Amino acid sequence: MQNQLQTTKEAITICRAAEDDAVVLAELGARTIRQTYGAAFSSEDIDRHISEAFSLKRLNAELANPEIFYLLVTVNQEPCGYTKLQPTSTSEAITGTGPIELVRLYLDSQWIGQGIGAKLMQTALEFVANNGFRTCWLRVLENNTRAIAFYRRWSFVEVGSEYYLAAGDNTVPVLLMTRLIN
Ligand SMILES: CC(C)(COP(=O)(O)OP(=O)(O)OC[C@H]1O[C@@H](n2cnc3c(N)ncnc32)[C@H](O)[C@@H]1OP(=O)(O)O)[C@@H](O)C(=O)NCCC(=O)NCCS
Repeated sequence: MQNQLQTTKEAITICRAAEDDAVVLAELGARTIRQTYGAAFSSEDIDRHISEAFSLKRLNAELANPEIFYLLVTVNQEPCGYTKLQPTSTSEAITGTGPIELVRLYLDSQWIGQGIGAKLMQTALEFVANNGFRTCWLRVLENNTRAIAFYRRWSFVEVGSEYYLAAGDNTVPVLLMTRLIN
């Protein structure tokens, strides 16, 4: 799949990550985690989380797994964002049929607030609909007000809250949100 969008200034592509995109995702994943959570967690915890979640070994295995979907955004051919989707339903609050979790959704900070997140979400929702999923769900930190507002704009609704083991040994309060896929 490939979704190409051209504005007068920037050429934006959104497509499923290929098996040889592990290095690109490792760099982008680490960079955007530091940008998003660098002020909230210690650098040791962030480093540990990055080395676990974005190791090349793990990413190579995930990219080879047909049940894990990474969509990669480029602007002028530079990787600048991604989303990870995986069919999981590990919380009792998620009751819809055909669930898929929007596990991660991140843009490089310089591209936030320009409509690219919206294009990525639109592509992700089309992708999950085309692959037969009926419920998209996610966890978001309770204090991530920008992301929560973004998800609400995309018709995600809160269905619960829980504590989640995030970077390091930090347990953080998160909201659970779902959206039916038409
Ligand atoms: C979540 C995230 C991907 C959403 O992307 P975003 O850029 O914030 O959201 P949008 O693409 O909808 O952009 C909307 C903003 O761009 C503006 N915009 C500019 N041009 C636009 C256009 N052509 N179309 C739509 N919006 C446009 C809107 O006015 C809006 O501004 P506002 O937020 O000040 O009201 C992004 O905020 C992000 O990466 N955040 C950090 C990581 C994070 O928290 N991830 C979630 C973890 S659960």
